[in-house]
Amino acid sequence: MFLRNYWYVAAWDHEVGQEPLARTILDEPVVMYRTGDGSAVAFEDRCCHRHAPLSFGRVTGDNLQCGYHGLVYAPDGTVIGIPGQTRIPPGSKVRTYPLVERWRFLWIWMGDPAQADESEIPELHWHDDPAWTMVSGYLHVGAHYQLLVDNLFDLTHETFLHASTIGNEHVANTPLAKVERDTMDGVRGTALERVARDIPSVTATRWMHGIDPPPFYARSGGFDKTREKVDRWQIIRFEPPSHVWLDVGVALAGSGAPEGDRSRGVTHTVIDALTPETVGSTHYFWTFPRNHQLEDSDLSDYFKKGVDKTFLEDKWMLEGQQRRIDANPDSPFIDINADAGGVAARNIVARLLEEEQRGRAAGELLQA
Ligand code: FES
Ligand SMILES: [Fe+2]
Repeated sequence: MFLRNYWYVAAWDHEVGQEPLARTILDEPVVMYRTGDGSAVAFEDRCCHRHAPLSFGRVTGDNLQCGYHGLVYAPDGTVIGIPGQTRIPPGSKVRTYPLVERWRFLWIWMGDPAQADESEIPELHWHDDPAWTMVSGYLHVGAHYQLLVDNLFDLTHETFLHASTIGNEHVANTPLAKVERDTMDGVRGTALERVARDIPSVTATRWMHGIDPPPFYARSGGFDKTREKVDRWQIIRFEPPSHVWLDVGVALAGSGAPEGDRSRGVTHTVIDALTPETVGSTHYFWTFPRNHQLEDSDLSDYFKKGVDKTFLEDKWMLEGQQRRIDANPDSPFIDINADAGGVAARNIVARLLEEEQRGRAAGELLQA
């Protein structure tokens, strides 16, 4: 079961064009394409005639034509043409989904269309802001999205899984300083202040003081690994349905970063939009924006290679984990202290799912 009345990232803007793009989202087959004026639309990917995938068809002007027997669908999902006949049988249409293009992403609403409110789309301002540049990507991960949320909250795994890029022994050995629920407090004064919304949320904070800079940060911040120490922070925020924003970075040890002065350091923002594909797989859209050395393509290449390598290590572990879970689905997890953020995120989703189910049941009762 997934939260439905939320905006999920369905695609990068550049992925959708005049060719139909098929993507399963929350276990539902969806097809997206652009009409003649460039607007993107999303349909259920199943023709109402004999249920062929509409994504096997083609875009003609504003419309989508099924590739099997040629039924033509208008952008609102209704059939407007059937080869060889003029009568359109009643009910000849497919479900459409609200789809909004913003911040370089296409956001889809899989729930009740009447509740779709565009103002609830998180403000990923970095993606459109000329003062920033970013590296970005898409990764298909064969694991439940909550395993990815766990992964992003429990960064002690950096020590063991990402030793060549962002991990060293300090992460695993430093407990979280705080885990805050349903508050904006943990993001005030951080890079996440603008994107964060005052909704059910979890924010976890870890500080590592006077440590050696890990390889990735030594390069991006220009620190000399042999003689300079850094203060390192990790601020991780979860917001439903499945978004995780990170403000991470390092500053010269003792230069005031814990008190809010980051002028002697580098901040990295990591945007993770996790869209469930099925119960065992996730579309992982990520960006890594920065507001320094904008023209430095070597640094961009270094970031892209570093993040790709790091996330492929995650994918390898997460998919192995999912295989073991599938083989023993009823075995419980043991929680440790570092899981506090991930467990709180799971609890929020469970609570909201229950509310959504209750709301749906009440709505169905009213309609009956
Ligand atoms: S299945 Fe689409 S036109 Fe027949
Ligand atoms: Fe990781």
